[in-house]
Amino acid sequence: MPIPEPDVWGLAFRRIHEGSLRSAVLRRDDGWAEDVPEMLASYFGPPEPHQVELLSRLSGRVLDVGCGVGRHLLWLQEHGIEAVGIDHSPGAIEVCQQRGCHDVHVGAPVDLDFPGNHFDAAIMFGNNAGIGGTVEGCEAIFRRLARWVRPGGLLIAEGREAAVANSPGHAEYDAAGQRAGHPAGQVRWRLECCDEIGDWFALMLFEPEELERLLPATGWRVQCCTPHQPSLFVVVAEAAD
Ligand SMILES: C[S@@+](CC[C@H](N)C(=O)[O-])C[C@H]1O[C@@H](n2cnc3c(N)ncnc32)[C@H](O)[C@@H]1O
Repeated sequence: MPIPEPDVWGLAFRRIHEGSLRSAVLRRDDGWAEDVPEMLASYFGPPEPHQVELLSRLSGRVLDVGCGVGRHLLWLQEHGIEAVGIDHSPGAIEVCQQRGCHDVHVGAPVDLDFPGNHFDAAIMFGNNAGIGGTVEGCEAIFRRLARWVRPGGLLIAEGREAAVANSPGHAEYDAAGQRAGHPAGQVRWRLECCDEIGDWFALMLFEPEELERLLPATGWRVQCCTPHQPSLFVVVAEAAD
């Protein structure tokens, strides 16, 4: 999976860090668009209360997949937990380093390698359960994580349900996407920031039951699946032996 070029997420994160973000728009490929400076700025804040409760269960060495600007890495570090972050945006990783994250790497999970059983847990917060873009892409990521996390170690993955996704007209968008050959639950977006326009990227919006079915096929035993906001849910799974 190539490094995004232009790295518009990284540009937006760098601009927020410098206090100079002028505009940021997330555009769906049917034209619907949303102003997202507040959403992007929220990644610089502390983890959300339900995330703190989940992070508190972790110990040892934790991998943050799609770590953004490192809000969960910083929390883990401050609580004495070894935290390793990966993100395919070089700008995001640069901002992580400036914010004091100790161990961060540019790359997607399918392009990086870590030794087997290297981590005690992996986290995918901020709706990152679907960053694989397709069912197969997500399965490839979960399989890799199951290899890197020791047996009994945890995966905590946040997802957003397609059926109650907050973007308007989602049902019609999804139906039109499927008629055009896209998988059910896939949303195609691009980020536009200042004068830069990013490439289209795909995100899977899973129903909780879909993730509960998919994870056991990729080396994970689902422990629980909990709703947290109208459309957001968290799956906790344990790496199988
Ligand atoms: C919505 S942000 C969430 C950031 C962070 N997890 C948080 O909650 O603060 C998604 C992040 O995932 C990264 N990302 C998206 N797809 C990725 C992939 N395939 N591999 C690595 N990083 C990815 C983006 O660059 C972005 O920084």
